[in-house]
Amino acid sequence: MTVKPLIVGNWKMNHDYVEALHLTQQIGVVLKNKSREHVDIAVAPPFVDIRSVGSIIESERIPISLSAQHVSMFESGAHTGEVSVNMLKRLGVKSVIVGHSERRTMYGQTDEVVAATLQAATRGGLEVIFCCGENLEVRDSNDHLSFVSGQIDRAFSGFDKKNFSMVTVAYEPIWAIGTGRTADTEQVAEMMAHVRSELTGRSMPDTRVLYGGSVTADNAAELATTGHAGGFLVGGASLKVESFMAIVEAVDDCYARNR
Ligand code: 13P
Repeated sequence: MTVKPLIVGNWKMNHDYVEALHLTQQIGVVLKNKSREHVDIAVAPPFVDIRSVGSIIESERIPISLSAQHVSMFESGAHTGEVSVNMLKRLGVKSVIVGHSERRTMYGQTDEVVAATLQAATRGGLEVIFCCGENLEVRDSNDHLSFVSGQIDRAFSGFDKKNFSMVTVAYEPIWAIGTGRTADTEQVAEMMAHVRSELTGRSMPDTRVLYGGSVTADNAAELATTGHAGGFLVGGASLKVESFMAIVEAVDDCYARNR
């Protein structure tokens, strides 16, 4: 456990800008009372909240960074409904989630679009949180390792090596997202080792590999230690200050002990 873990709250399509402001302020208060120096923290609010959340982070000096849930692979122009890398950068966004299974399955995001978005984002100076993970059918047929390898292959074909340091990978098995059915520590450990060996083969040995899928304060510490997750991408439990900060606290405590 050498690289500082990253915990990202993916708010998905939850919290309007007033609720988002409130939650960010609450996170700020908790961190002011006890800083968490062994973890990096980010939140990924809906686009319409980004400006106000960013302003609060800056004015209250809250030690968390701002992430976005999606970005266009195009620079500008006739792309109704899309938001560009530069637009996000101007708002202080540091990273963007790319290839989330919800975008792949519900909004037709193909491997080609994922690959092009990874390139566009990093070229423009945004870090990326690249999501991969199998559905239940693939898991049940025991093809999960090769499936994830294929996703990684296709995402990083043509990716500029000099931007590898801007990549975080998040393994999110679809069957564990929003289901309350977390992958167990053995399953997570197996996939963490597999993804890391894939990345090492691509000269990306220091890339952080996160786990996502029904993460809570009850399972986070074990998934970080025995499961070797390098942090978490958190959905449901990131929507309330208590549950999100309890995960931050659990991971910070176990990294503090293991230093
Ligand atoms: P849940 O934590 O709600 O399962 O969501 C995980 C996720 O999809 C984060 O991106």
